[in-house]
Amino acid sequence: MERKNIDWGNLGFGYVQTDWRYVANFKNGQWEEGGLTADANITMNECACVLQYAQTCFEGLKAYTTVDGKIVCFRPDLNAARMADSCRRMKMPVFPEEKFVEAVIETVRANAQWVPPYGSGASLYLRPFMFGSDSIIGVKPANEFQFRIFATPVGPYFKGGVKPLTVRISDLDRAAPRGTGHIKAGLNYAMSLYNIVDAHEQGYDENVYVDSATRTHIEETGGANIIFIKGNTLVTPKSDTILPSITRRSLLQVAKDYLGMEVEEREVLLSEIDQFTECGLCGTAAVISPVGKIVDHGKDISYAGMGPVIQKLYDTLRGIQMGQIEGPAGWIQEIC
Ligand code: PLP
Ligand code: COI
Repeated sequence: MERKNIDWGNLGFGYVQTDWRYVANFKNGQWEEGGLTADANITMNECACVLQYAQTCFEGLKAYTTVDGKIVCFRPDLNAARMADSCRRMKMPVFPEEKFVEAVIETVRANAQWVPPYGSGASLYLRPFMFGSDSIIGVKPANEFQFRIFATPVGPYFKGGVKPLTVRISDLDRAAPRGTGHIKAGLNYAMSLYNIVDAHEQGYDENVYVDSATRTHIEETGGANIIFIKGNTLVTPKSDTILPSITRRSLLQVAKDYLGMEVEEREVLLSEIDQFTECGLCGTAAVISPVGKIVDHGKDISYAGMGPVIQKLYDTLRGIQMGQIEGPAGWIQEIC
């Protein structure tokens, strides 16, 4: 197989249109047979539910080339399950979880020439998503839906690669108690756009959200969960209003079972974050991006950046994803 002629090492996190995407339509109460299409555009009515009432949710996962030249992806079954949760909360029909994984495999296989080579630092980002597609004007769910997966080759999510991030404690909120913070709905991202533009304008890489009820504990950032290190312990916020990151859940297991660390998933108080030595943002796009500084209204809290513990976590997780370290059963889905 000949790869596309791309400068893989210099890719940022942007959209590059690839050859094939998967599409399935839901009509008359059932999913029609889905399949691949070359058409990257979607035509729909001006009154489509997604356009009026943002009835949409999405997922994100990556395909990699391993050290022995295989193409694999990481725990797609967990993306399928999380998308099912998002759909139930958004009153959208669940795309069957097994079919989701098959559709991921089909999409990657068809775009194999777009999967970055081993060692390039890039990967093929997959974006499964679903939206309400028929015309709805009274506030209610759509009757017809489309499920799609496209693929796009990407490099690091944060500009500057591994340069430690500077993030700020946000004054705006991301998720309300009993709201939709725990699912991957487009609306959670729409409402964060104002805040991320403002953060960038003020020189910050991301917003760290605190809980909106008491504003006393740390939740997550706009596009990643957060981890802290103290000695040999990994501490990460437990909250009903954050996205259950697959990367974070995997890191907890890596820390315990591969690195012999202690792990604490618990409320993390804003008032205790100066007691940690290292901090990182974790997610599919972010992988583990080291934080150098959290700014809390004029007070700087500094961390080691890519410190020794975050480096070990990063190396082990990447090692598993790249096929250099044997992962737990079921973590690596071989594609071709
Ligand atoms: N939190 C938010 C708000 C996200 O958008 C993401 C990205 O998917 C994550 C956390 C990380 O989740 P995952 O590790 O499953 O990609
Ligand atoms: C991902 O990591 O897959 C996400 O969806 C985060 C998004 C901010 C790009």
